[in-house]
Amino acid sequence: MIAIRPIRPEDHSALLALWRRTAGIQLRPEDDYDPFCAYLQRNPGLSLLCERADELLGAVLVGHDGRRGYLHHLVVDQPFHGQGLARRLLHQALAQLAELGIHKSHVFVLGNAEEALGFWRAQAGWSARHDIQVFSSTGSPE
Ligand SMILES: CC(C)(COP(=O)(O)OP(=O)(O)OC[C@H]1O[C@@H](n2cnc3c(N)ncnc32)[C@H](O)[C@@H]1OP(=O)(O)O)[C@@H](O)C(=O)NCCC(=O)NCCS
Repeated sequence: MIAIRPIRPEDHSALLALWRRTAGIQLRPEDDYDPFCAYLQRNPGLSLLCERADELLGAVLVGHDGRRGYLHHLVVDQPFHGQGLARRLLHQALAQLAELGIHKSHVFVLGNAEEALGFWRAQAGWSARHDIQVFSSTGSPE
């Protein structure tokens, strides 16, 4: 039976292996163990994985800033594509955010990530934004 449960710190190595073998997922320093654990602690119970008898099938990192939800690294392992697992992960993630009063969420997708873009375009309730540009900073203001 396939089950969905919150991600725990001890899932890190299996998740890292999944992210590494998934085309389209770019690992960042924030994916290292310590920041990964800090993220889980800051957003308790929100990040989810699906598994079958201890076999990791897919996962999504989920957080919020008190106003909007943000999703990262939605992945389903290749052999399990097309079985509705990403949809189940998303459904539960958004339901949990809604329980916390977060009714709008964002996901950032690279403009050349065709598979991911195709997925998000196909999801009911999600729409591409053409009225927003994202500006990012990695340092302190001068
Ligand atoms: C994108 C991904 C998570 C989808 O996982 P999945 O479990 O195969 O998706 P699901 O089976 O839940 O599909 C849900 C719906 O989306 C559609 N869909 C899935 N992938 C799609 C794609 N690439 N393009 C268009 N539609 C897609 C399915 O047909 C299904 O449609 P339906 O509701 O009409 O039946 C998976 O392909 C993946 O891990 N890709 C690599 C990582 C990635 O790009 N992640 C996104 C990062 S933002």
